Amino acid sequence: MAIKVTEDYVRFDAGDTSLILACAIGERPRIVYLGGRLFASHPAEIDLIHTRQHAHGSADVEIAPSILNELGAGVVAKAGFLVHRNGDEWYSFFSVTAIECLSEEEVVITCLDHHTNIEVKHTISMMVDNEVITFQTSVQNVGRSMLNLQSCMAACVPIGPQFDQTIGFSGRWAGEFKLQHIPKFIGSYVRENKKGRTSHDAFPAIILGTAEADENSGQALGFHLGWSGNSHIEVERLSDGRAFVHMGEYLFPGEVLLGAEEIYQTPILYVGYSGDGFNGLSHKFHNALKSKVLDDRKQNKPRPIHYNTWEAVYFDHSPQKLMELAQRAADVGAERFVLDDGWFGGRRNDQTGLGDWWIAAEVYPEGLKPLIDHVNALGMEFGIWFEPEMVNPDSELYRKHPDWILSAGDLEQVPFRNQYALDLTRSDVCDYLFGCIDDLLSHHNISYIKWDMNRDVHHPGHAAGRAVTSKQTKALYSLLERIRNAHPDIEIESCSSGGGRADYGILNHSDRIWTSDSNDALDRQHIQRGASYFFPLSIMGAHVGPEVCHITGRKLSMELRVATAFLGHMGMEMNLLDETPENLKILKLGISLHKQYRRLIHQGDFYRLDTPDFVNAVCVVSKDKEQALLSWCNMTGHSETLPPRIFFTGLKPDKLYRLRIIWPVGLQSITSPSIIDVMDLAGMGELVMGEALMKIGVQAPLLHPETCIIYHVQLDD
Ligand code: DGJ
Repeated sequence: MAIKVTEDYVRFDAGDTSLILACAIGERPRIVYLGGRLFASHPAEIDLIHTRQHAHGSADVEIAPSILNELGAGVVAKAGFLVHRNGDEWYSFFSVTAIECLSEEEVVITCLDHHTNIEVKHTISMMVDNEVITFQTSVQNVGRSMLNLQSCMAACVPIGPQFDQTIGFSGRWAGEFKLQHIPKFIGSYVRENKKGRTSHDAFPAIILGTAEADENSGQALGFHLGWSGNSHIEVERLSDGRAFVHMGEYLFPGEVLLGAEEIYQTPILYVGYSGDGFNGLSHKFHNALKSKVLDDRKQNKPRPIHYNTWEAVYFDHSPQKLMELAQRAADVGAERFVLDDGWFGGRRNDQTGLGDWWIAAEVYPEGLKPLIDHVNALGMEFGIWFEPEMVNPDSELYRKHPDWILSAGDLEQVPFRNQYALDLTRSDVCDYLFGCIDDLLSHHNISYIKWDMNRDVHHPGHAAGRAVTSKQTKALYSLLERIRNAHPDIEIESCSSGGGRADYGILNHSDRIWTSDSNDALDRQHIQRGASYFFPLSIMGAHVGPEVCHITGRKLSMELRVATAFLGHMGMEMNLLDETPENLKILKLGISLHKQYRRLIHQGDFYRLDTPDFVNAVCVVSKDKEQALLSWCNMTGHSETLPPRIFFTGLKPDKLYRLRIIWPVGLQSITSPSIIDVMDLAGMGELVMGEALMKIGVQAPLLHPETCIIYHVQLDD
């Protein structure tokens, strides 16, 4: 049982995490403590030792923060709740009226502000099996007049003073999930995303750590807003030593107006604590995502190897060529063939046809059935691309329904990939989209959708007026659910110009993310590492791209490209008809090796290694610690004579493991004899104790830059 409710407190304990809330009836609801597990201490004692005293130049009584730091209480920290009624009644002040346990993991704290007639409910849970805490707040207008809700965070979480390391996320198209280490500060680190999608540059997450925290040690807190719309993320460090993390939706002016009895609900904020560094945090988030967010019927199925047509043909579709590609893909081991953009309406380039979701007769005179049958006969599933939320002005749909788009007054649309966003808050728009998708799925053997979304939404106005990004995001989730309910076996990939819509909100309605449009293996090493803080390898689309990357122009070996896609949900995205027989052989070998190890890759515990900058190293260890894979990638050259040692992690110290290098096949070092030769690492390998692999480490072989090797260790029985 994670929850213990006493008269004045609610306490959650699981694993190494504790959360204590003060919520006496009639008092303001407060987060007293969130951090490492407390065993003996009583909540009242924890509350007491937080006592702060009066300081000159401040209020005569210390005003404690509350879950929303609302204005009426006079808290000096940033307010997490801003409302008014026609300019008045901004002074919210909540007191607890009821506490209800919904389950062994979840509690609802109901609060009323009887001064301004607003009720809020904080739904708070701690998942017993992975210790991730969730906060979600709903606001109900229990007054008669219109309530203008300017902002409401899911929660304002107080942070202990020891968490003074701040890590945020930045990025760009084809360069997502870049970590940024923020120097110590007083004030706020704020990320405001108003792009109408999760975004490439402001992934809604924050990691805080103690000063010395690294991948494997130190204390860390992780925060992620499971939301695919606009977001506000803030780490606030006050000059009085206190600190908070605020996370919620970024709302446009007038976006949430609540009439009598109407309710607004925030997105879910996920919070994790780790006493074992950032890797410990990732394990909890990965496990929470797998057990509570994703549809486990899909996740338990081995992740099929993809072949995606985009970079092979772009808009130049020909059934004959696609069939040849399908044949090649099957030959090298693909299990799912995904037909990307260009199969429908007049979509022969990116300026026309979006919205016209019928098979293009000029390209597919016999429909898609012959291609699908061919793909199925080759033993592959068939997947198809949609970008349902968008319309090209040059389309039949737009010509018929120009009023179906989001817009703002008479402002010109901001040009963006020649397309406008449809207004999903209109039921006729969703009915149309559902009808088109349902019709195609009902009449074809299609088991997978790549659901794309390729523009920021600058003018999210319904009928050119009220901003509706919040409602639009919820409508998107409902549309996805409607499709999943009608076609329970369908799997959905969330793509938004690559990784522009990757978050736990969308993953509650989909099964995979397209991590980035960059298939450049070296870029991907960074991108996948960045994504791994919150996302497990099983949902991270990772494709072997062409030899010369279409985005960076960099030429990279097939061995490196395979090694990089190997630790992910593996696939391919290149013109296989252009590849040399030698490269196809290497690709086929890599794919068959991935199939051999994919259970471990997708179900094991994932670790990032702390290494010098010229290397990216990650590792995945089976839950029973019987085997592990470790990928070591020389991104560039090293400055010292030899590369460093490689420290394994997560193994059983007192057990013998057989150490081998499984990729690339037949690897040789630059000079000999090397450790590869003396330990026969490219052959049968050697037996080494777990403690030696973890404490002493294995000498990395001398390799050229842009070489990635994969070790395998197997417990010897
Ligand atoms: C953007 C996606 O990220 C690509 O993979 C591809 O599907 C294109 N859109 C198609 O327009």
